[in-house]
Amino acid sequence: MSTPSLLILPGDGIGPEVMAEVRKVIDWFGAKRGASFDVSEDLVGGAAYDAHGTPLHDDTMAHAQEVDAVLLGAVGGPKYDDLDFSVKPERGLLRLRKEMDLFANLRPAQCFDALADFSSLKKDIVAGLDVVIVRELTSGVYFGEPRGIFEEGNERVGINTQRYTESEIDRIARAAFELARKRGNKVCSMEKANVMESGILWREVTQRIHDADYADVELSHMYADNGAMQLVRAPKQFDVILTDNLFGDILSDCAAMLTGSLGMLPSASLGAPMANGRPRALYEPVHGSAPDIAGQGKANPIACILSFAMALRYSFDMGEDATRVETAVEKVLADGMRTSDLLGAEGGKASSTTEMGDAIIAALDASL
Ligand code: IPM
Ligand code: MG
Repeated sequence: MSTPSLLILPGDGIGPEVMAEVRKVIDWFGAKRGASFDVSEDLVGGAAYDAHGTPLHDDTMAHAQEVDAVLLGAVGGPKYDDLDFSVKPERGLLRLRKEMDLFANLRPAQCFDALADFSSLKKDIVAGLDVVIVRELTSGVYFGEPRGIFEEGNERVGINTQRYTESEIDRIARAAFELARKRGNKVCSMEKANVMESGILWREVTQRIHDADYADVELSHMYADNGAMQLVRAPKQFDVILTDNLFGDILSDCAAMLTGSLGMLPSASLGAPMANGRPRALYEPVHGSAPDIAGQGKANPIACILSFAMALRYSFDMGEDATRVETAVEKVLADGMRTSDLLGAEGGKASSTTEMGDAIIAALDASL
C-alpha cells in the first residue's frame, strides 16, 4: 500500500504551536515504528485569510479531498472579529466539514486519573469517566435554509433553520450504534422532541434504526436540556451520546469541562468511505485558538496529539499505536508533568508546550 497522506492545517492562535508537537510524534512513528506519512501543510482560517483573502483557498479544499486524513489545529482570533461573516476564520472549518461531508463528529470526554482532582466537579463524580458524544456535523441549524438577516416591515429579522432529513438522521444514528458496540453498548439520544418537529423525527428514526438493526444496543432518549443537567449531575451514566449539530456543540463543551481541561480532548470528524476504504476524515482538538496565550509556549499540545492518535485508530487501522500514544500521555501526566492549564489552585511549575511534547516522545521511546 502507498504511504498514507496527511494534510496538516495548523490554523491560528496556538494551532501552529501545538501542531509542531504533533509533527514530532508523526516523525517518531516514521523513525521508530517504520510508519511514515506523506505530510503536507497548508493554511486555514485567519492565516489563510491573511495570505489569500479567504479562510480556505480552493486549492487547499481540493487537496483536503485527496488526502487520507486532515489534521487541523484551531481557527479564529480577535484580529478577525470585524471581518465579514462570509470570510470569518470559522467559515474555513465549516466549509471543510460540509464539502468533505464529515457528518459524524466523535468527541470523547475521558477523565485521566492524574487529573480527576482538577475537574470543577467532585472527584468521585468524574473519576473514570469515559463518554463519547457523537455529534451530527453537516446539517441542522448550522446549515439549514432559509438563513440570513432580512428586512421585515421596519425592522430586521435574523433567521436560521433547523432541518434534518430522515437519511441524515439514519446515517448518524448508525455511526453511534456502531461505535457503542465497540464500547459500553449504550446509546442515549438527545433532542427536544417536546418542542421541535425535527426532534420528533430524530427520535422516531433513531428508534426505528435501533429496532431494525441494533436491537442488541441499549437505547434511551432524553430531552437535551435534561441531558445537559444529567451530564453534570451523574456523567458516568452515559456511554455514547447521540445528538444533533447545535446540541452537540453545546453538550460537548460541557462534557469536555467535566474532565478538567479543554486542552486535553481530541475529536474526529468522519464521512463516508473513500475508494481506498478509509473514511473521509478530519481530526482536531476540541479547544479553540486561545489567542490570549498564543505564541507564549503555554499551550497544552495533548488534545492535538490525541487527535493524531484518533487518526491512527480510525483512518490508519493502527489501534495499537493509537493506544501507545494515549498511554504515553497518561504516563507523562502520572509523572506529574503539567502545562499551565493543568495547574490547579495549588500551583506548581508549568512545563512549556515543547517540554510537554518532548516528554511524550520520551514516553513513546520508553514504550518500545
Ligand atoms: C466546535 C466549534 C465550532 C462549531 C466553531 C469554531 C465553528 O465551536 O467545533 O465545537 O461551532 O462547530
Ligand atoms: Mg464548539
